[in-house]
Amino acid sequence: MNYNSFDNTGLVKVLTFLKTHNTEYLSGQDLSDVLHISRVAIWKHIKKIQELGYTVESKQKIGYKLIENSDLLLPWEITSNLKTKIIGQKAYYFDTTDSTQNQALKMAGDSTNDGAVITASKQTSGRGRSGRKWISPKGGIWLSVILQPKFDISIATLFPIASALALSIALEKIFSIKPKLKWPNDLTIKEKKIAGMLVDASLESNKIEKLVLGVGINFNVNVKQIEKSLKGTQNFYGAYSISDQKKNIKPISLVQSFLVELEKVYELLNAKQTKNIIDEWTLRSSTIGKEVEINTGDVKIKGKAIKIDDEGALIVENDKTHRIIAGDVIHLSK
Ligand code: BTN
Repeated sequence: MNYNSFDNTGLVKVLTFLKTHNTEYLSGQDLSDVLHISRVAIWKHIKKIQELGYTVESKQKIGYKLIENSDLLLPWEITSNLKTKIIGQKAYYFDTTDSTQNQALKMAGDSTNDGAVITASKQTSGRGRSGRKWISPKGGIWLSVILQPKFDISIATLFPIASALALSIALEKIFSIKPKLKWPNDLTIKEKKIAGMLVDASLESNKIEKLVLGVGINFNVNVKQIEKSLKGTQNFYGAYSISDQKKNIKPISLVQSFLVELEKVYELLNAKQTKNIIDEWTLRSSTIGKEVEINTGDVKIKGKAIKIDDEGALIVENDKTHRIIAGDVIHLSK
């Protein structure tokens, strides 16, 4: 099933009331009287709410009580009290889709979808960088964000780097996890990947018209299964699931915090203020200062990773200085 944040008003009304009165049982009649919804409709909404993964206890002749929230990234949960101006103020949820990135690209033509977030519980053809596949079973956080940026093409390479920084700040704030940032867009724990970013952009005469950011987070996934599916794939260096470090956590607060941090870096980029982003990324980077091998697709370069420049390109030194805009990195030194 698919849902969005602006329909389903009846269901959201019932759910919100259950959330704000979760210390008591509420009878169908009371809910009906307060919310001006028929008893039959209340019953149908409660059934749907339960199907969507919320635990609602139902006691005969007494009523209903919300016990636990859902693990799903439902659109009304994303938009609820979200402290952003644009990003995430509209949301769409797919139970299963080929790729949230593909869905977002289809929706990006509608200008009212600026800032919209598309989530899915499961992707059947998740896409990774450089045309690779992205294994997306239930339990992960798979989302895309539609944007109409003001920054020009020269800054575009910095955008996924800044987005990775935003996610690492959110992980630190919400779960006290401090991942490392591997150039260009990966987040790692113990040198294994916990998250990656993908950007699809449409251009019009050297200006970015639309940009779709795809974010994949191994939140609560079976790492062994992912490793089995991807073993031998180019640039696969292992996966790590956040749930291995933190137990019984819900994804929604992380997603909301990420969207807030993402909007901060997005505003900085729109204002051409890149210094802070580069400094903060460098502080958290596991690539800078290491001996690395870069595969650009055309050539392999070995050398020392010195820094990222104003546009997010990696500067690598051996007997020469190389400026690398895109490629896969292997860390050779610890
Ligand atoms: C990478 O290769 O590191 C980027 C992975 C990006 C995966 C995400 S999951 C949500 C969105 N939909 C996709 O098909 N891909 C991105």
